[in-house]
Amino acid sequence: MVESLVPGDGSASHGGTAADTSGDAVIAGAGPVVRAGERPTVRLRDVGPEDQPRYAPEWLELREPADAAARSMELLDPLRIRLANLPGRSGFAIHDLGCGTGSMGRWLAPRLDGAQHWILHDRDPYLLHFAAVASPRAAADGSRVTVETRRGDVARLTPDALLGASLVTASALLDVLTREEIETLAAACAGAGCPALLTLSVAGRVELSSPDPLDDEIAAAFNDHQRRDGLLGPDAVSVACEAFGAHGATVKVHPSPWRLGPENVGLTAQWLRGWVGAAVEERPELAERAEAYLAARLAACAAGDLQVTVHHSDLLALARPTGTAR
Ligand SMILES: C[S@@+](CC[C@H](N)C(=O)[O-])C[C@H]1O[C@@H](n2cnc3c(N)ncnc32)[C@H](O)[C@@H]1O
Repeated sequence: MVESLVPGDGSASHGGTAADTSGDAVIAGAGPVVRAGERPTVRLRDVGPEDQPRYAPEWLELREPADAAARSMELLDPLRIRLANLPGRSGFAIHDLGCGTGSMGRWLAPRLDGAQHWILHDRDPYLLHFAAVASPRAAADGSRVTVETRRGDVARLTPDALLGASLVTASALLDVLTREEIETLAAACAGAGCPALLTLSVAGRVELSSPDPLDDEIAAAFNDHQRRDGLLGPDAVSVACEAFGAHGATVKVHPSPWRLGPENVGLTAQWLRGWVGAAVEERPELAERAEAYLAARLAACAAGDLQVTVHHSDLLALARPTGTAR
């Protein structure tokens, strides 16, 4: 049994090791760096072979401001209009799938009017605890916001689980699902007749200042790494568009890129390690060149000379109302 932090997420990788020139042992894209012999900041449970990957709360915390800045504002008005037109509502029931430490609720709840009850879903009870403790308290108009947590596998959601839902949200989740899992999610939302706001799915494109010949090779290897084991990675949004569209939903997609500069040095460095690390795990022949590349990129980052755009997409699916949603 090994104590371990998580393999990465949609913005980084699912892998376990990374090319790294700093002497740090890096878990690709998952956040906090744990040196050999050093314990993680917070103890996570022992991880056996059958355990699911886990996400470090430190990584989710590190990315939260960049996520908040990236989220598409353009999808909010159509969402508000849909919510305002829900029949006979006395408050909204909002299901946040794969909530992690709850950053989606902290961003969205204060931007919507009306009383809200958030049902926070995750398979990780440790993250659910963080999400409950730091949950939002008030809506845009001062109405009350309450939360409950539900531990479980969101990839197996049934329409029953969403009975009475006004809205389903997810953030940085779609790209770590399979096609079948997204189809299950779309069917559950369609069955409940509720809209879905599914944000910050990786688009598979990255731009770095001072372009380097290795950028494209690393990006391609990283994208392949994300598609391991049938996960969708950069294909998630197009698959979700098809899946929700097949149920008659109107689907809108808007870009939501991270734009990282000197004010995001910590996040950018961690992201770089995860991005390059996953690429090397996918294509070990890149290792030597990637090591020099990573060292140069990290040095530029530390000097405040690196700008990175990591492209993501936000998706709003407006289901055909069924009359059962609140
Ligand atoms: C990349 S993190 C994003 C967390 C949070 N939504 C955010 O934006 O900060 C993905 C989250 O989804 C959860 N997750 C992934 N697959 C899941 C599944 N099949 N069932 C339940 N939770 C899942 C993970 O535990 C993790 O908390």
